[in-house]
Amino acid sequence: MSKPENESSREQGLLQGLQNYGDRDFSIYMRRAFMKSMGFSAEELSRPVIGIAATASQFNPCHRHFPELVEAVRRGVTAAGGLALTFPTISLHESTLAPNSMKFRNLMAMDTEEMIRAQPMDAVVLIGGCDKTVPAQLMAAASASKPAIQLIGGPQMTSRYRDDRVGACTDCRKFWVKYRAGEIGNAEIEAVESRLVTTAGTCAVMGTASTMAAIAEALGMTLPGTAAIPAVHADRLRAAEATGVEAVRLARSRLTPDKIITAKSVENAARVLLALGGSTNGVIHLAAIAGRLGIPLDLRRFNELSDTTPVLAAVKPVGNEFYMEDFFAAGGVGAVLRELKPLLHLDCLTVTGQTLGERLAAEAGDYVDRRVIRSAQDPLEPHGGLVALFGSLAPDGAILKRSAATPELFEKEGRAVVFSSLDDLARRIDDPDLDVTPDDILVLQNAGPRSPYGMPEAGFLPIPKKLLAQGVKDMVRISDARMSGTAYGTIVLHVAPEAAAGGPLGLVRTGDRIRLSVKERRLDLLVSEEELARRRAEQANVQPELPARGYDRLFRETVLQAPQGCDFDFLTALGRK
Ligand code: FES
Repeated sequence: MSKPENESSREQGLLQGLQNYGDRDFSIYMRRAFMKSMGFSAEELSRPVIGIAATASQFNPCHRHFPELVEAVRRGVTAAGGLALTFPTISLHESTLAPNSMKFRNLMAMDTEEMIRAQPMDAVVLIGGCDKTVPAQLMAAASASKPAIQLIGGPQMTSRYRDDRVGACTDCRKFWVKYRAGEIGNAEIEAVESRLVTTAGTCAVMGTASTMAAIAEALGMTLPGTAAIPAVHADRLRAAEATGVEAVRLARSRLTPDKIITAKSVENAARVLLALGGSTNGVIHLAAIAGRLGIPLDLRRFNELSDTTPVLAAVKPVGNEFYMEDFFAAGGVGAVLRELKPLLHLDCLTVTGQTLGERLAAEAGDYVDRRVIRSAQDPLEPHGGLVALFGSLAPDGAILKRSAATPELFEKEGRAVVFSSLDDLARRIDDPDLDVTPDDILVLQNAGPRSPYGMPEAGFLPIPKKLLAQGVKDMVRISDARMSGTAYGTIVLHVAPEAAAGGPLGLVRTGDRIRLSVKERRLDLLVSEEELARRRAEQANVQPELPARGYDRLFRETVLQAPQGCDFDFLTALGRK
């Protein structure tokens, strides 16, 4: 006795999404038989089903505590009267994926979206942490249109190397720069290597993972106050259990992500990203999440937000002292949101059913450590940590993290020293004969989303060894690549259109003059239009080679540019045009 389509689509629990054998009752009977094989009673099988997207993997050290989190979520679901069913999805770690983890964010989003939709669940708990996992899960949740709640894995605790307090991975870079400059030797860098990451969790600074955790909370997709709890803190387990309880409530209320992720909550999240001086990757990921619901992240509007949002959090790589565990103890994302309150859309709904305004009212007067999270009246910087640049070198925009850059380089004209690819960079950057001075601007081409490298975090171009030896600590560096959220320097990223898509970045030649003006939000290539047209015509004869098959082919043919979040064109709300 099959029900009409519209009636069966309202089915809940295990009865939703049945296979169609032409006999609905048979489908139910078959499904129950298999589920009973796992030892569930008929009563348990009649409960609201809460899927738990579990991303533990031994290729993902940041997620090594996830089995414990899954158990805590399960405890919460069961206590609230639901049935918790765990399912695996792809897991992504920054250091174990080739060519880079960004290449697979959209694959993880597709996997997660399709499994949420295809499997019979009333709500889903998404457990993510390492850089690309939270954006992938939020993109999936936005598209899957089922009630969803994000649980963050939490940051690592810091460790010690001799007198230094250290944490991944701003300090990884600090020591590596010393090693490259010959200030420390092999034995010391090996000793440091064993001290940088000593607990479970995500990088201990305000890198991409912690930025995305804060964005998830600012969007309203996590329980309040949970984004920054350290991975190994007992509060993290309590947050996991409470998330399980909340998921059962969500299953009953049917509150879906499209009611939570709106144009207004995306602006709130952008404000938080700016106030944290957060990762540049956050701009790409937020654009991708918003794009799943047809909400554009306009970089010119982003600049308006940046001009009116103070930097409040002194967490590395901003400042030189505090880590995520300090940020958590100082009051976490809630403290930042309360300072930003006059700038936020307070009527945004959160996953608990409360509005943001109601949440913040309930937290008024909570403790804040002002050494770590400054007040809006006494900010670290009066303007946001990130700024979008436009000009003849970046017609569709580029991003600079000014809060982690050298202010003396903000207004700069210099000679371009160009590397045509990452291989070219690796080959020549430390060549003693490289013609480069501290006044030059380093340019890396063909490292954007459509390049064979798939937009790696290579925008943090190394300072040439011979300049390091002279004590040069920073230079203007420009590319269509990304940069780790833990990195720092005067680094212009995400130049769009990228070189591989025919952008002007691909037309730059060594010796050209480039002008950067943060004040004017401009990035210009000072070469005549006639000369650029000549170079363009020359390049038109060179056709890029596409991979023959598989995911590589799909990626290269459908990936969008950075301002559209590097999503695949057919996965956005609008789909392929
Ligand atoms: Fe996983 Fe940094 S490598 S968060």
